[in-house]
Parts: sequence; structure tokens; C-alpha cells
Amino acid sequence: MKCIDCKEEYEEQPIYRCEKCNGLLEIEFKLSADDFDIKKARKRRFNLWRYKELIPAKKIVSLNEGGTPLYECKNLSEELKVKLFVKNEGANPTGSFKDRGMTVGVSKAIEFGKNITTCASTGNTSASLAAYSARGNLKCIVMIPSGKIAYGKLAQALIFGAKVIAIDGNFDKALETVFKISKNENIYLLNSINPYRLEGQKTIAYEIFDELNHTPDRIILPVGNAGNISAIWKGFKEFYELGIIDKKPKMTGIQADGAKPIVNMFKNKKEYVPEKNPETIATAIRIGNPVSWKKAINAIYESDGYAESVTDEEILNAQRLLARKEGIFVEPASAASIAGLIKLINEGIIDKNEEIVCITTGNGLKDPNVVADLYKNEIIYVKEEDVENLIKNM
Ligand SMILES: Cc1ncc(COP(=O)(O)O)c(C=O)c1O
Ligand SMILES: [Zn+2]
Repeated sequence: MKCIDCKEEYEEQPIYRCEKCNGLLEIEFKLSADDFDIKKARKRRFNLWRYKELIPAKKIVSLNEGGTPLYECKNLSEELKVKLFVKNEGANPTGSFKDRGMTVGVSKAIEFGKNITTCASTGNTSASLAAYSARGNLKCIVMIPSGKIAYGKLAQALIFGAKVIAIDGNFDKALETVFKISKNENIYLLNSINPYRLEGQKTIAYEIFDELNHTPDRIILPVGNAGNISAIWKGFKEFYELGIIDKKPKMTGIQADGAKPIVNMFKNKKEYVPEKNPETIATAIRIGNPVSWKKAINAIYESDGYAESVTDEEILNAQRLLARKEGIFVEPASAASIAGLIKLINEGIIDKNEEIVCITTGNGLKDPNVVADLYKNEIIYVKEEDVENLIKNM
């Protein structure tokens, strides 16, 4: 483990920040091409553990995560005049990319001899942590912002048997609270500040290369607490260092207009300032003080990437477009990546003909209320005897 600021190194241990300067920690591998053979890995089952030599965990708790589909989106590509793929992380066991982090994180909890896991969550993290903790026979405590998480996610945390604590405040407040309780030595904190989480999530990058057989020009994804963009960038850098790829993609992070501290920093070239009252319909990215902002901003600068924000209306339009043009139903936060793509094409930031992978981070069924409310007027109520007539006129 190495501090990204003062570069202090630590043996593997359950700490979350640098003990010298409070900086973020990262797992560093001394990589050589002899350690990992992509040809050998490709003969294994297509899931995250195909890359096991590059993932620092031994006592593995798995639900067969990763190996998610990369869809070529011909209809949308034609409409937007780019070459678009969607990496659908909603196809993971609990319906979001968080499972990649939790298979590694919960495995480490067991290696470190912990018996309770915890996290603060806008929903998906708690759903995933609760599932992997159940499978690993660990107790799990999740802290959620009261009334501000999607119903499907809450249902998951409850059925997997987590202790669900709803606090009166937003995600940022919940995160402060779990930091305090994780000082208890039986408890292991599994928010994305935990560097082992990112070791699982970086495999999104490996898989994109594995499926395309080359690096796309750009990756676009929603940014909340900023762990995933940092993890995926790390994955591409590692494949580059191993000589597996010869090009890295531009990392492009999308936040919601009401919660965009990273976009503000990037666009105004100013100091990082947290957003005190984050607000957006995309509850998964309703985060005002992303813990990994520094890693994310590094990823954006190092990759010559970009940061942009989108309105709730743009998010909901993109959600509908992706569903109706490509048959892919994603939750609002995930649709932010498509909304961001459209905005950046219109602004001329993205060149026509670029090859782009949008990461859709969570399944649409997680948050059915938004859709049920928006589209309820599309239901056609008729008497049985009128159905034939109605169809004739369609
Ligand atoms: C569906 C979805 N998308 C995006 C994010 C943001 O990911 P990160 O916090 O790693 O930036 C989250 C986090 O909760 C999420 O659940
Ligand atoms: Zn440090």
C-alpha cells in the first residue's frame, strides 16, 4: 500500500488513509510481464477472477462477478455518429459494478480477521456489501441517507440481512459516521476509500480490452464518490505497464449538475470545493464530497480526459434513449454517462468517429419508481372488446 501524496509505503493491513499525511492509499504492484499471461487468462472462465494474478486476495468470497457484456450499440452509434459500446455493469450479481469491489474487499475482511463489515451508501454499495458479507459469514452494518435511496437497493440490503441504519442527513454525513465506527477493530470499512475495493473494480478496464482486443479512444462513466473512475484508470495503466496495450483511453467523468465538485474543479482550474447540498434524481451520484476526488482528477488529467455535468432532465432522456434504442435498462446515475456523451458531442469536445465505451454502472430495476411515475401515462386502459380495434389503428 502506498500513499498517493507522500508516497509512504505500508505492508498489507486494514488502514484506510496514510498515517503520516492522511492521503489516499493505493495498492502498488511491482509488475512484470512474467507475472501475468493474458493468453493463459483468456482460457479461464470470463469473470473477474480470470485476472487473479493481478488481484491481491486469497480467501476469495465470490458470486461470479465481472464478465459483464460489452454491447455494440449500432442504433445509437448511427444516431450520434460515433462508435459506441456500452459495458453493462448492471449484469453483475447484485446489479451493479460494486460487486467487483466487494468480492475483493470482503475477501480481505476475512484475511484480516474481521467479523463485521460496514459502509455508507447511496444504495448499491450496501446491496453489494450485504450480499458478499452474507456469503462470507460476516455481519454487516450499512448506513444510508434516510429516504434518499432507491427502493430496490434498500430491499437488497434488507433481504441479505444487513443491519440497515438510516441517518438523518445525506451520503456525506453517513460516510463521516461510518468512519467513526470503523475505528472499532472488529469492523472493516468497505467504502471505496478502501484501496482493495478499487483492485476489484479496475478489472472493468481489463475486460474492455479483453473483449475489444484494443483500447477504445474514450471511457465515459458517472462519478459519485470517484472510486470507479480511479480504479478503471489504474486498470488501464497496469495493462499498459505490462505491455498488453499500447494506448490508454481518455477518462471522462460525468456528474449531475446538482453534485459536481470535480467538474467545477476541472473546468474552473480551481481548488477542490465540496458541494454542501448535493441534489439530483440520480441518487447514486448524489454526493457532494467525493472521497477519491484527488485520484479522479489525476485520472482525468493524466489521460487527457474531461469532466462534465448533466441535468436531471438530460439523465432521464438518456435513460429512455438507451432503453428504446438498444434494449438496455439502466438506473438514472448510469444514464448520466450517455447524457454526458450526447452533451460532449454537441459541445464538440468529442470527435465524430471516436470509439467510446460508456459504463452503465447499475441495473434499471434498482430504481423502478422513477420510471413507473414518468411513464405511467403510456399505459393504455381499454375494455377487452376494444382491444382489436385499438391494434388495427396502431
Ligand atoms: C449506479 C452507480 N453509478 C455510479 C456510482 C458512482 O461511483 P463512484 O462512487 O465510484 O464514483 C455509484 C456509486 O454509488 C452507483 O451506485
Ligand atoms: Zn502520506
